[in-house]
Amino acid sequence: MCVSVDNASEECDPEWMDAEDPLFVLYTSGSTGKPKGVLHTIAGYLLYTSLTFKYVFDHHQDDVYWCTADIGWITGHSYITYGPLANGATSVLFEGIPVYPHVGRFWEIIEKYRVSKFYTAPTAIRLLMKYGIEPLQKYDLSSLRVLGTVGEPINPEAWMWYHDAVGQGRCPVVDTFWQTETGGHVLTPLPAATPLKPGSATLPFFGVLPIILNEHGEELEGEAEGYLVFKKPWPGIMRGVYGNQECFENTYFKKFPGFYVTGDGCRRDKDGYYWITGRIDDMLNVSGHLLSTAEVEAALTEHSAVAEAAVVSRPHIVKGECLYCFVTLKDFREFNHSLMDELKRKVREKIGPIATPDFIQNAPGLPKTRSGKIMRRVLRQIARNEKDLGDLSTLADPKVVEVLLSQRCEAAA
Ligand code: WTA
Repeated sequence: MCVSVDNASEECDPEWMDAEDPLFVLYTSGSTGKPKGVLHTIAGYLLYTSLTFKYVFDHHQDDVYWCTADIGWITGHSYITYGPLANGATSVLFEGIPVYPHVGRFWEIIEKYRVSKFYTAPTAIRLLMKYGIEPLQKYDLSSLRVLGTVGEPINPEAWMWYHDAVGQGRCPVVDTFWQTETGGHVLTPLPAATPLKPGSATLPFFGVLPIILNEHGEELEGEAEGYLVFKKPWPGIMRGVYGNQECFENTYFKKFPGFYVTGDGCRRDKDGYYWITGRIDDMLNVSGHLLSTAEVEAALTEHSAVAEAAVVSRPHIVKGECLYCFVTLKDFREFNHSLMDELKRKVREKIGPIATPDFIQNAPGLPKTRSGKIMRRVLRQIARNEKDLGDLSTLADPKVVEVLLSQRCEAAA
């Protein structure tokens, strides 16, 4: 049947659904294991994305909002589609990459549409940092009011650049911690209301109850570091793993009964602020000291030659585990022995001798999921010289892996 637009009705009745009917299934990025089909339902998800969008980006009717995520991943679902639409927000939709046709692409778009709320990922910020501030200076960024980040712990170096160079020191940076599974932001500052600390996702959103547990499942009070779990559900939490109730229970509720387990490590400082230290699977135990990959990576990226770093563990006869670091250098920087020494010194100074890297490999590119997350699982397998790299279906560019495999370090640096 063919209906012409002229005689089509202007009204389109919605399909009435039950609040708990399935809304969509989205597969997790698979950065730590096999992708799982995360199930979200109608009412709670919509309420939660709508509310977090409104408060976390301090949405006003005259805003122009731009989230650079891929619409196919959770950030695109929650904060390009559902949250902004439910608030009637004016949004920029973008299909492309930050450095094509030129490295000022993002800034050009912000100027063109007078973007006031901008939401991107640490990986994009670090990529753009590589090109310095000249590309920024060509454009008028005075419309910006709030800057958001999501997807990975943001190293303080990148946070400062985002705040000072992009936001001209004027715009609060909202570092939003959440997961495909949480549906929306769970730890996040509220702009202008929450005093910020570079690298911290700060405090829980309304109604969210974070707890830090130790290995034995005991709740830690005050300043502490351990497993990040949540004590109570909130409207946007996932309702299941599609077609696999057992996997749902085992993955999220079995390790610490009575809590939702995020799988992330976390530190709470003396002011009650939360600092995500990375996926628990990515923690390293070097000579009995627990290290988080995020803190070592933050130390490496503090060096002016380093654009991006990813750290994984490799078994070590004496220390149990040691650090194997992949570093991507800024344009025109050369990878050589003196740089390796400087990087080791940097890590030693920032964290301590225990964290001195044993291996440093030059990585022209890092294996990332299509949502920009570094697949440390794959790097770990490269570092350990494992032949079977498992499920690579969520990798954006599988060629990167071949290059890294061909250049892996055999002997300690
Ligand atoms: C990580 C993306 C630190 C974390 C919305 C989490 C973060 C995983 C942050 C979920 C942040 C996300 N600070 N880590 N602000 N945001 N993560 O499912 O490890 O693609 O568990 O959801 O990304 O990734 P997912």
